[in-house]
Amino acid sequence: MIQLKNVTKTYHYKKANAFEALHHVSLEISEGEMIAIIGTSGSGKSTLLHILGCVDSFETGSYFLNGTDLSRISEVKASAIRNEKIGIVEQNFALIENFSALENVLLPFYFDKKTKLSEAKKRAISVLDQMEMTYLQHKPVNQLSGGQKQRIAIARAIVKRPELILADEPTGALDSKTSAEIMQIFHSLHEAGNTVVIVTHDPNIASQCERVIRIEDGNIVE
Ligand SMILES: Nc1ncnc2c1ncn2[C@@H]1O[C@H](COP(=O)(O)OP(=O)(O)OP(=O)(O)O)[C@@H](O)[C@H]1O
Ligand SMILES: [Mg+2]
Repeated sequence: MIQLKNVTKTYHYKKANAFEALHHVSLEISEGEMIAIIGTSGSGKSTLLHILGCVDSFETGSYFLNGTDLSRISEVKASAIRNEKIGIVEQNFALIENFSALENVLLPFYFDKKTKLSEAKKRAISVLDQMEMTYLQHKPVNQLSGGQKQRIAIARAIVKRPELILADEPTGALDSKTSAEIMQIFHSLHEAGNTVVIVTHDPNIASQCERVIRIEDGNIVE
């Protein structure tokens, strides 16, 4: 499903403060896999996830997603791919804090002219239901707990039924009980056939995945 070949990512490319965060990284992921990406802080985990998520571009190498070359695509194309094929749960949730839970889950539909609002709402509520969050749908996100925000971030990531689900430290700020509940959601998504990639510092989370990729100083080491 995913073929990353020789990818090098340099922040501030060709500028005095250029920084190479990934060095010739190659990686293959099959459809339906559940994978953990681990590594110390600053090793390049989020950078790698952003490339897989078509959020960030890179200078050399190639990225194929289901046979489509995403290596040098325009921002317009990249955002269309993100909207249709990829669901990302960001490290800091990236929710709109003064919007309600439901409004946040509806966001991906604003960029999609094909789905009617009534249909979008139906799907958003069904995903909120799956997250056991229906009762909080009208609450502004800034009044929710960390675990509740995480559920909303996951709901928004999966509401358009993406083929690929990426999550950056989805349990990083949660207590162990809430972490286990959030991991249960990812296990269910995996069991339903989704491809799931989770960035984590937590060996316990990594051990629940089928395969662990370790990254050190911008290199994949195992
Ligand atoms: N926008 C940016 N501009 C310049 N350098 C950056 C930028 N984003 C990240 N970096 C650098 O790239 C390296 C990898 O960063 P990245 O965010 O991928 O690390 P990480 O493994 O996700 O760390 P953490 O576990 O702390 O989230 C770090 O050295 C970081 O300082
Ligand atoms: Mg990170």
